[in-house]
Amino acid sequence: MKTSTLSYFAGLVLSVTAAPIDVGSNGRITVQLNLDLGQAGIANAFDVNQLFAFSTMQFVQAVPEQVVNGTEPTGGIAGASGNFNFGINSAMNMICYNITLHNFQGDFSSPAVTATHIHEAALGASGPPRIAFPNPEPVGADGVVRNSAGCIKGPFKTGVMVEGKDSGEGFHVSQIEANPAAFMADTHSSLALAGAVRGQLA
Ligand SMILES: *[C@@H]1O[C@H](CO)[C@@H](O)[C@H](O)[C@H]1NC(C)=O
Ligand SMILES: *[C@@H]1O[C@H](CO)[C@@H](O)[C@H](O)[C@H]1NC(C)=O
Repeated sequence: MKTSTLSYFAGLVLSVTAAPIDVGSNGRITVQLNLDLGQAGIANAFDVNQLFAFSTMQFVQAVPEQVVNGTEPTGGIAGASGNFNFGINSAMNMICYNITLHNFQGDFSSPAVTATHIHEAALGASGPPRIAFPNPEPVGADGVVRNSAGCIKGPFKTGVMVEGKDSGEGFHVSQIEANPAAFMADTHSSLALAGAVRGQLA
């Protein structure tokens, strides 16, 4: 399959090289590449810069006052705060994160694979996690500041099952861009299971 695709493409290249290059034959090659390589192939081979481009950024201030269980405010961890900074790359279904927590208390605790998430939930409401991020690690010896930074790409997996399906399954970061206010970022503590701090995307 791969070999025949390559040799077919090589044939096209040879025929173009052998003939005077004109706009028409260039156009046909472009179409052929699209068909053979698919979207991922095009991104990797011909638009490398796409990997380093965010289509949206989000700077979310997370506070204990926004934490709810259902719609009931629970207060989170008093005195804690968070900066959840995200760079979304919709073409790659990738999200880069730089999450800093101040004064987090207790242990990270969640039924999901980690305790630090983007949930699909409107302000004042609860909803399933869609993306689980590595929990922030202490930056200094006192553990007052914690940070987690990196990038993750779909397919996403949270470890939380909703109606027999992982709540991250099929999720695409473009859903966040389509309606950011329908999402929030939070982290959960053994001392505040509903959430230590939470912030709404906007
Ligand atoms: C994360 O953000 C902080 C500022 O809030 C910055 O000092 C740090 O360098 C950032 N980390 C990365 C990996 O970009
Ligand atoms: C949310 O509230 C319900 C009902 O009171 C309770 O059973 C549940 O344990 C609470 N969940 C969390 C994470 O606190």
